[in-house]
Amino acid sequence: MSGVPVVFTVYPGDCDAYGHLNQASFLAYFERARWHMLADGPGMDLFEREGVWPAVRRAVIEYHAPAYPGQSLRFQLAVTRIGRTSFTMRQVARRDADDELIATAESVFVCIGRGDAAVPIPDAVRRFLVPALPSAETSQRPVTVHGVEIALDDRGSGPALLFVHGFPLNGTLWRHQAGAFPGWRTLIPDLRGMGRSDAPDLGYSMATYADDLAALLDVVGVDDVVLVALSMGGYVAFEFLRRHRPRVRGLVLADTRAQADSAEGRRARETAMADAREGGAPLIAEQMLPKLLAKGAPEPLREAVRAMMAATSVPGLVGALAAMRDRPDATELLPTLQGLPTLVTVGAEDAITPPAMSEAMAKAIPGAKLAVIADAGHLAPLEQPELFNRHLQLFLQQLGGPTGPGG
Ligand code: MLT
Repeated sequence: MSGVPVVFTVYPGDCDAYGHLNQASFLAYFERARWHMLADGPGMDLFEREGVWPAVRRAVIEYHAPAYPGQSLRFQLAVTRIGRTSFTMRQVARRDADDELIATAESVFVCIGRGDAAVPIPDAVRRFLVPALPSAETSQRPVTVHGVEIALDDRGSGPALLFVHGFPLNGTLWRHQAGAFPGWRTLIPDLRGMGRSDAPDLGYSMATYADDLAALLDVVGVDDVVLVALSMGGYVAFEFLRRHRPRVRGLVLADTRAQADSAEGRRARETAMADAREGGAPLIAEQMLPKLLAKGAPEPLREAVRAMMAATSVPGLVGALAAMRDRPDATELLPTLQGLPTLVTVGAEDAITPPAMSEAMAKAIPGAKLAVIADAGHLAPLEQPELFNRHLQLFLQQLGGPTGPGG
């Protein structure tokens, strides 16, 4: 769910002696904004009707700029994680006049039942929180590989689709693909350092990410997969192909490139690493956001993507940037993919890996098909899920074979 924004005016009584909106009032505003979301949606008594209460377990508020009496603040809300009994919401407050970021709040809620114990999130609440989830049946679980806990969304049964997200994102990038392909099992991990996975200080490389995925498949009992990888996920996919080729029975390369970083690109990674260390994920999110989505992307989607990026840990950011900087070129790998069914997709408005790049990549892979997705930028699976899923579904049908869905 990404709610419609609500706007509040700052009153003098909510401010401290210096005239800034004070911390307690911020908390109250964030809470009021959540009530508004309920009132505008399923009703303020949603939780009561379902016999549960969402108790705040943790709240982290970051203040970015002061707000003064008379100013209007716009509050936007997005759900960034939904588990069995708990969920995480991210709220963003911006000054309405100039869009300046004023504060963000990340709150973890646990559903408490009548017995005062944590209970599974009722379906009606789940549907309100994440209407985009294709079904209420979610299987989120941690899987430990190489001593690192990897968060995995594992749904359905059948041959497996393994989705690998880009930078600095997490598995929720694939929220519209999770469980959306009947007859297929969808496996969606958060790479180490991102999303809800552990973020060790060191040890990031394309090889590590690829070996994590292979070990994860071992743990969940999957031999081979159709690998669906976006952007940095594509760089991981190339490494996975170098190291674990027999485990890939089909390949989807979304908004990615085969070339290694240029000298200039490597310098830009170093700058971004320094920025990540100094400004953390919110700064990297601010820098990346303008490049990621199509011009017409709706504001709630922008906020959801910002929240996804801003949730990344600093070691995860720095590690991924170093891994991208050091990744080998994969252009010579492309012709060797002969015989591997491959689909290349790209958003028509992708500013990071533009369509011409994907066209060239598709040409270099024998037999590969290309799909250009209209009205999408770099994150087509999230921006135009129906179109993306249609292309993926068609590709899966063409894969066919005795182990295909319904085959
Ligand atoms: C990504 O989306 O994964 C990154 O933008 C890729 C990159 O920076 O090369």
